[in-house]
Amino acid sequence: MLGRGAAALLLVLLGAARSGFGAPRRYTPDWPSLDSRPLPSWFDEAKFGVFVHWGVFSVPAWGSEWFWWHWQGEGQLGYQLFMRDNYPPGFTYGDFGPQFTARFFRPDEWAQLFQAAGAKYVVFTTKHHEGFTNWPSPVSWNWNSKDIGPHRDLVGELGAALRKRNIRYGLYHSLLEWFHPLYLLDKKNKLNTQHFVSSKTMPELYDLVNSYKPDLLWSDGEWECPDTYWNSTYFLSWLYNDSPVKDEVVVNDRWGKNCSCHHGGYYNCQDKFVPESLPDHKWEMCTSLDRASWGYRRDMSLADVLSETEIISELVQTVSLGGNYLLNVGPTKDGLIVPIFQERLLAVGKWLQVSGEAIYASKPWRVQLEKNKTSVWYTSKDLAVYAIFLKWPENEVLYLKSPITTSATKVTMLGLKGDLKWSKDPDEGLYISLPQLPPSALPVEFAWTVKLADVK
Ligand SMILES: *[C@@H]1O[C@H](CO)[C@@H](O)[C@H](O)[C@H]1NC(C)=O
Ligand SMILES: *[C@@H]1O[C@H](CO)[C@@H](O)[C@H](O)[C@H]1NC(C)=O
Ligand SMILES: *[C@@H]1O[C@H](CO)[C@@H](O)[C@H](O)[C@H]1NC(C)=O
Repeated sequence: MLGRGAAALLLVLLGAARSGFGAPRRYTPDWPSLDSRPLPSWFDEAKFGVFVHWGVFSVPAWGSEWFWWHWQGEGQLGYQLFMRDNYPPGFTYGDFGPQFTARFFRPDEWAQLFQAAGAKYVVFTTKHHEGFTNWPSPVSWNWNSKDIGPHRDLVGELGAALRKRNIRYGLYHSLLEWFHPLYLLDKKNKLNTQHFVSSKTMPELYDLVNSYKPDLLWSDGEWECPDTYWNSTYFLSWLYNDSPVKDEVVVNDRWGKNCSCHHGGYYNCQDKFVPESLPDHKWEMCTSLDRASWGYRRDMSLADVLSETEIISELVQTVSLGGNYLLNVGPTKDGLIVPIFQERLLAVGKWLQVSGEAIYASKPWRVQLEKNKTSVWYTSKDLAVYAIFLKWPENEVLYLKSPITTSATKVTMLGLKGDLKWSKDPDEGLYISLPQLPPSALPVEFAWTVKLADVK
């Protein structure tokens, strides 16, 4: 028999063996445990991703991807008139399904475009609130892209094309489905039953993870029910402990009412959310090239599309504040990404070709924003500090207040050869003499980056 001291020592050693010495840590199905998981590092390094909203809503392509809900959930007059004027009487939302042809969907061309845009990850709608699955889900009978419409596995095809280009693959998934009979039944039962979760939501989430091994799960449609209804913590503990993607997978925060901005992996908070100052938790800003919709809509006008300078300003602000920027496009029902979206994405890619050094794998600096005559956003990497300024100063002199210079300080501009002259301000900061070049010789047309070596 062991003495008391020896037994205690043995228990300590066993405990250490369980938590340290290479044994993987196990997560329990509760938020304190799940929230303590470190975020896999690829996500913070990626900084920029493309979001894709594609589904049966891309067929009417009018108003927004919430078409079905606005039409028949809320009964908005505009949607009723649109249906009356454009479709035969008795036409149902389900009748749009066969018209979702994806006829010109060439996943390699999408992947090539997203790569040229500089995206390090892509998040794709596997199923929006309408419930139509873009993969052959075994529990979405006749409301999936294999049985009707494209007759293809869109989720699988896009994933294969992205992976050939080393782009990380994220899957968007809506927990709720507006009109699913079992969901409506559970709500009628005041959520005392979980028929919908056990026979639809959970089987599909497990199927998505096992079949496509996503790098990211972008959960949505959580807001009507608590996480206990969705069984989210059980699913996440499986995802983190035992799933085929347990080491690399990243998730967001939409896993139940009141979870977003509090629990999960990184935080989205609300759509298009941007914090005012540097948060202490990794976050992502998701936004859409079409200000008014995530899904493609034919009634979009040029004024609805974010401009190049808006996009780049948001990207810079987001990264400076420690976030990732996820920019959405809505393809047409045929699987085309319209030229105005291509043009915007390529403009981001062109800017990142020059400025990516200040973006990818950067870290927030001790100061994020300096506002004087032009807004200057800071990022940092290794020993360098990057100052990205959004307007060219009138007298060709850029004043930076925050950096503390040394005699070894060196200043360059990304995309230009040679050092820039600078002088120390007697009080604080430095003046940088910008090169006097014709606009065509500048490395980018907007949002220039100076790199400061040896500053504090
Ligand atoms: C919730 O998850 C647990 C653990 O996997 C499982 O035993 C239970 O059946 C799940 N409940 C529902 C409604 O899916
Ligand atoms: C949950 O969120 C709702 C609004 O989204 C809010 O009214 C409510 O107070 C929150 N409840 C808790 C417990 O935080
Ligand atoms: C604004 O910039 C100018 C140089 O362009 C500098 O002289 C001035 O001190 C700055 N003001 C503040 C408040 O930082």
